[in-house]
Amino acid sequence: MDKFVIEGGTPLRGSVTVSGAKNAALPIMAASILSEEPTVIHRVPRLRDTETMARILTHLGAKVTFTNNTVVIDPSSLTRWTAPYELVSTMRASICLLGPLVARCGKVRFSMPGGCVIGPRPIDLHLKGLSRLGVAIDIEEGYIVGSSRNLKGVPVFLGGAFGSSVLATANILTAATLARGNTLIEFAACEPEIVDLAMFLRSMGAKVTGEGSHLIQVRGVKKLHGTEYTLMPDRIETGTYLLAAAATGGCIRVNQCRPEHLFSLLDKLEEAGLEVTRGKNWIALKGKKSWKALDIVTWPYPGFPTDLQAQMMAFLTLAEGVSSITEKVYPDRFIHVGELNRLGASISLDGPKALVRGVKKLHGTRVMASDLRASAALVIAGLAAEGETEVSRIYHLDRGYERFEEKLSTLQARIRRVH
Ligand code: EPU
Repeated sequence: MDKFVIEGGTPLRGSVTVSGAKNAALPIMAASILSEEPTVIHRVPRLRDTETMARILTHLGAKVTFTNNTVVIDPSSLTRWTAPYELVSTMRASICLLGPLVARCGKVRFSMPGGCVIGPRPIDLHLKGLSRLGVAIDIEEGYIVGSSRNLKGVPVFLGGAFGSSVLATANILTAATLARGNTLIEFAACEPEIVDLAMFLRSMGAKVTGEGSHLIQVRGVKKLHGTEYTLMPDRIETGTYLLAAAATGGCIRVNQCRPEHLFSLLDKLEEAGLEVTRGKNWIALKGKKSWKALDIVTWPYPGFPTDLQAQMMAFLTLAEGVSSITEKVYPDRFIHVGELNRLGASISLDGPKALVRGVKKLHGTRVMASDLRASAALVIAGLAAEGETEVSRIYHLDRGYERFEEKLSTLQARIRRVH
């Protein structure tokens, strides 16, 4: 198993270019099977998760070729509609194939994804939405079994206990493109990745409006065609580099990103006292030796993203004063707290709220990554700490950050991968 060895204490400097968004790539690759024609997708990050999606599509019978950051998916020979446990259990996000599969094949047999370290992660909204569209759903021996003669457009309310759901919205949206009649998705997720998916679907001939709001309308069509599409930049990767620079008192510019996707983060960085400038597709951050504590609450978009909560926490361990972080999306997503404390942070937990008492210094030690974003937080803390930090189990990180250590090294970080 690989690990990172980090020599901390060097402020990040320079510029870095972000990759295409993982969380746009996955539902868009899945949606490519809605047509029988080949689709070309550019700016796909080479990650364990996108490669897993390619493997699942291949298992279903599609031909998938990955060349640099371009994926060609030819779903003309799709023959299977079953996704077995061995594949689904390696990537929870494979659930976003449910809608495209049922729309394309009229049936689906899909292993139920379990919980994960960030919480229980139910799928009731996915199932409720699909059954509203006319899919008969049973749960048999740990598998979701769905079938439908004709999907029919209807109003679907997708609000849950924690607000909207990104991948449930993706599933209902994709299935509705080939339904008979009009579908109205109420309480749809507003995330930029859903906007990207809607734009992709439109480029295939789908009739979608309202994406980016809580009300998405879909007018079903008989057929979709192949397309060529370039993915949006990864806003979470962008935020991770900004927070790494901020935590080390560095000064960086992130290129080929979309500042408007990250207002909640940029606002907080400014509130902490840092200098942020932005252009159409870049963000520059000038760090400081000291910064103010913050109160953070995670929300669905456009609120502060849960996927940056751990990285923000790493930054706040060194703030002046006491910060609070409240998780409103995944109340249990705090597995990184113990490891950050091992690096010298002072964080206590009270249910879904963390209190982060700023300390003067972090000290390098050996820590273990537990999930994708928690791993990034440990790397940020290691970069800011005095001495050497070893982050083990970085296979989590390889799921979601393309060439992470290489990009950090161009920012003068002292980080190396040890096999
Ligand atoms: N929820 C339900 N019922 C459902 C579905 C979700 O109650 O049927 C709840 C969840 O338990 C959670 C909340 O709704 O409390 C939001 O979950 P959501 O469904 O939006 O999450 P997701 O679509 O499964 C995507 C991202 C996650 C990201 C969340 C929230 C992808 C592939 N994954 O997951 O990304 O944290 O949205 O923004 O798009 C990551 O990249 O590290 C990651 C975990």
